[in-house]
Amino acid sequence: MIAVYRTFGSYFFGSKIFKFKYTMEPVIHLNYKIDKQKLLDEASKIKSSATGYTDSRYPDLKMDDWLVGHHTSEYIDQVMKDFGIVGKPRFYWLQPYATIPEHVDNGTLCGLNFILTNEASPIMFGDQEYHYEAILVDTTKPHSVKNNQHERIMFKISIFNESFEQVAEKIKKYIS
Ligand SMILES: [Fe+2]
Repeated sequence: MIAVYRTFGSYFFGSKIFKFKYTMEPVIHLNYKIDKQKLLDEASKIKSSATGYTDSRYPDLKMDDWLVGHHTSEYIDQVMKDFGIVGKPRFYWLQPYATIPEHVDNGTLCGLNFILTNEASPIMFGDQEYHYEAILVDTTKPHSVKNNQHERIMFKISIFNESFEQVAEKIKKYIS
């Protein structure tokens, strides 16, 4: 069983091996091999209908350099089934040198994030950079992205009904 430990929280299960992973880190790397090319193909098909990021909490905000396109497919349904989660899949395109300011996600408790492009800039929690290909991420913790010279395409499954810790416990077979 995977340990779930909160330094200032109320519960502690299992081995302390996982203590640092869950207390210090807002991301957990996944060993799930996603078909990046298939997703890039699906992304390119819907890019023309993607729109600049908006946020109901900030009505004046519209980011033209950060596009979002909601999308699902048989393959994506299979990915969600593999993880045993219910979520809302979408693609994000972040233009070169664009910045996503520090934020917590709007209503999302956690997400499965898959970077589809090469040499992608990291996600940042404070000053801490996390380079990744596939992660479970705690989107309730403030995070940001400063893009480099490359367009950064991400596939994300946003999860609204289960916490980071709950999903971590559930997907332990994809955590090495
Ligand atoms: Fe976010």
